[in-house]
Amino acid sequence: MTDLQVRQMRFAFADYDVPFLWNEENPAFSSMANAVSFLAIGFEKMIVNMIREAMPLIADPAVAEEADAFVRQEGQHSTAHRQHANGLIRRYPGLQETLNEVIGEFDHLTVNTPLNYRLAYTADLEATFTPVFKLMLDNDSTLFQPGDDRVASLFIWHFVEEVEHRSSALIIFDSLVGSDIYRMRMAPSIFRHVMKVIRLACEGFNKHVPLEDRQSDALSMFVSYRGKQKLRKWLRLRTEDNGPMARAFDDLPLGEQLIALVGVIRSQLPKHNPDHETLPALADVWFERYAAGYDVSHWYTADTVAAREAE
Ligand SMILES: [Fe+2]
Ligand SMILES: [Fe+2]
Repeated sequence: MTDLQVRQMRFAFADYDVPFLWNEENPAFSSMANAVSFLAIGFEKMIVNMIREAMPLIADPAVAEEADAFVRQEGQHSTAHRQHANGLIRRYPGLQETLNEVIGEFDHLTVNTPLNYRLAYTADLEATFTPVFKLMLDNDSTLFQPGDDRVASLFIWHFVEEVEHRSSALIIFDSLVGSDIYRMRMAPSIFRHVMKVIRLACEGFNKHVPLEDRQSDALSMFVSYRGKQKLRKWLRLRTEDNGPMARAFDDLPLGEQLIALVGVIRSQLPKHNPDHETLPALADVWFERYAAGYDVSHWYTADTVAAREAE
């Protein structure tokens, strides 16, 4: 029986402006998280279609139950990220075009690639989430806490549920495809696609969000782009200046970044079992608070909100 819980969450994105620069202390992380929001909408839409296609083929009732809970969690994430993205689009209407392009990339996979490829895509990408999100959640005091609490709470909820369902996509892949070799063989093309989609989102941010609102070059997370920009400046060639080349994780401890990187590599190897991962401490705190009825949609400000409502 699956342990996954489907939780409905709303973050009041329609109530007031959603800033692009939602964590002013870290413009590069603000931009990166916004790109994750856009990617999540397309990726989770693909997952919903994929599970619909896969479900009749799943013979084991326990796996079918896992797949059902997994897809319902992903559906909730997608809904919340759409509300976040809609808030950004209200302010910067050009971003609608960017979101459409991102979703289009995943729709393309749904239409043009076999089910096994999409199962491998989901298993491979989801396997990287626990080490990467642990790095972020372990550093929540700088990455999330100083920011807009709706955006911070959305990501914290999404990331802890990704940790919660860290094994689901692999369980489904193993029951239907069951080949580590296939998964590993597809990995380069899968991660090329992931990077292509993130790049699309970042290009859209540079194009549609004025520099004074984003405070950094959204493409600066790409090593190749940074190198190219530096080379062009050095050669005194005309270079489009999209803003400071800040990096989201520059202030995080190097050791923790290395552990995350090793975790990402390990997550792609044969016989990887996400059950054995070291989990972020914040995930346990989140589940405990949720069970106790804490307002997790205002992760850092729930007490202030409750006090205001009591007045
Ligand atoms: Fe998700
Ligand atoms: Fe997921």
